[in-house]
Amino acid sequence: MTGALDNEIKRLMELGLHRRCVEGYIARVAGITLEINRLKREKNAVICAHVYQTPDIILGIGDLVGDSYKLADDCRRTAADIIVFCGVHFMAETAKILNPSKKVYVPSGNAGCSLSEAVTGADVRKLKAEHPGMPVVTYINTSAEVKAESDCIVTSANAEKILRRMYEKHEKVIFIPDRFMGANLAKVLGKTPGKEIILWNGTCIVHEKFDASLIRLYREKYPGLVALAHAECPSELISAVDFMGGTGDMMRYVESTDAAAYLLVTECGFGELAKLRFPKKNFIAMCRLCPYMKSITLESVLALLKDPSPQEITVPPAIAARAKIAIDKMFELAA
Ligand code: 13P
Ligand code: SF4
Repeated sequence: MTGALDNEIKRLMELGLHRRCVEGYIARVAGITLEINRLKREKNAVICAHVYQTPDIILGIGDLVGDSYKLADDCRRTAADIIVFCGVHFMAETAKILNPSKKVYVPSGNAGCSLSEAVTGADVRKLKAEHPGMPVVTYINTSAEVKAESDCIVTSANAEKILRRMYEKHEKVIFIPDRFMGANLAKVLGKTPGKEIILWNGTCIVHEKFDASLIRLYREKYPGLVALAHAECPSELISAVDFMGGTGDMMRYVESTDAAAYLLVTECGFGELAKLRFPKKNFIAMCRLCPYMKSITLESVLALLKDPSPQEITVPPAIAARAKIAIDKMFELAA
């Protein structure tokens, strides 16, 4: 066991995990990751980890890592019997809809999402009745019930592309539930909110609170700074930054450029991961924690693998079948 633990500590240190915490931390983490990785093999489980998770989860136990789109897409090809989703509930629900025969779990009962909670299936039915004939384009941060009422799902990685495709056939589109992302996309596409794009009043409690006036101060303090923000941020903030996108786009931007400093306006886990992936680059923190994402810990993953029953994700088959049509439309249009 000591040999295995030493090897695990070495592996985690090679991944750079020791750079983010106090002495002694890595040995504690290694004991847990070793056990989780053993149970994963024993149960033929795969761990999906969104980039907002902590680096001990992403690097220590994650098998499939990325943004919402990549995780949904990767899940379609896994040969595992069990999917443990270290992300939020709607992501795991999407994985279940795409893999009805597999068992899917989230290692927390608190991994919701303010956007997902902002709209119900009944709300969408009402919207459709008010705007007959308009296609409903729905952000993936929604429940299965809402997806089932939708024509096409999008993520931050493909929303602009898919909306452009939609406007080839339709003059007007309903976009739910993120009003900031909707307004940001409307601006890029030259569409008028309330007329050509009908929005809903949902917001992300993490991204809605960033203060746009701080961007100018950061630029003064760090010459050559490039500011990147997630598309869920308010439009005023997006106007003040150099790049808007999803987490996958932001990571690729950082990888392919060489700025003096990067200001990452998004959830803190993203910056932590970026620092570990690109140790020579200079990252400035302007981040906030997502309480839903951060309700998952290594300990909760270990507890789940030992006794998974309470946290299994289920979707009624009739809802799953309709939601899958809208999710598959996304894969078709995003390709
Ligand atoms: P991404 O798909 O860009 O990773 O976004 C997911 C999310 O919840 C952002 O808050
Ligand atoms: Fe939902 Fe915002 Fe958390 Fe993303 S960061 S999971 S949108 S609450």
